[in-house]
Amino acid sequence: MPFNLPAPFASAADVPDAVWAAIRSAARAGDDLSIAVAKPWRDLFAPLCRPDFVLGQLGQSLDGRIATPAGHSHYINGPKAIVHLHRLRALADAVVVGIGTAIADDPMLTVRHVEGKNPARIVIDPTGRLPAAAKSLTPDGTRRCILTKANHQLDVADDIEIIPIRVGDQGKFDPVDLIAALNGLGFRRILVEGGAATLSAFLAAGCLDRLHLVVAPLIIGSGQIGLALPPIEKLDAAIRPPTGIYQLGSDVLFDCALSQS
Ligand SMILES: NC(=O)c1ccc[n+]([C@@H]2O[C@H](COP(=O)([O-])OP(=O)(O)OC[C@H]3O[C@@H](n4cnc5c(N)ncnc54)[C@H](OP(=O)(O)O)[C@@H]3O)[C@@H](O)[C@H]2O)c1
Repeated sequence: MPFNLPAPFASAADVPDAVWAAIRSAARAGDDLSIAVAKPWRDLFAPLCRPDFVLGQLGQSLDGRIATPAGHSHYINGPKAIVHLHRLRALADAVVVGIGTAIADDPMLTVRHVEGKNPARIVIDPTGRLPAAAKSLTPDGTRRCILTKANHQLDVADDIEIIPIRVGDQGKFDPVDLIAALNGLGFRRILVEGGAATLSAFLAAGCLDRLHLVVAPLIIGSGQIGLALPPIEKLDAAIRPPTGIYQLGSDVLFDCALSQS
């Protein structure tokens, strides 16, 4: 049944070609102030024209789930939200996923639905579980990197960059170290595309400048939840970021500004 929602929020779904060209041009200049487009696109995309950002994105159901118990997540969000995700990829230097997502979804992580350049593809894979045939490793001229434990030998093609990361006190990589490693590779605009564990770790560490949370009008009722952070006792301690709200077809995008930048 088609959704026939009223439009209480600005629709960011359909970006005219000329507007998208202006956004990409401002992003190339690394200057959010040079973005010469009208609202709502200006508000939504200007922060992503800056030379540095770490942006998280997650698509979830009304009940806050990102996949069924079997790990099926294609597609929670509608086609307009998928196009939006490709715009985010096109504005990023690098797109990051955890190994859980790389195995469950085998994503290509390319820009296919909009004009733009593919970002470098980064997989956080501490113990070398990524299959050599993973689509994210496809040799298409794009840089591909695996962030893994120091001294871990991976059996992958020579042109894949293996970046050793120190394991932190909790037995995990500190997202601060992951960002420093990505910056060291020349990636300043970083899109963390999931899954839940990866994104939650970045959020808990205060490492996201923004979060695009896209809520789709479906109730899954079971399966994997999205963000999970260390427990808080009182709501005073909840994160309450300034948030822009946009309609993406039948989905609603919450653009959360988590940092001052
Ligand atoms: N709805 C959406 O927008 C969306 C987006 C992406 C994915 N998904 C769904 O999410 C599910 C996968 O999510 P997930 O939470 O299970 O997995 P994930 O976040 O994709 O990957 C988690 C794994 O990546 C490694 N990792 C990530 N951050 C790390 C860190 N800071 N330090 C050390 N290792 C780190 C660990 O690998 P090891 O286990 O090897 O230690 C960890 O278990 C899939 O079902 C996928 O379909 C949904």
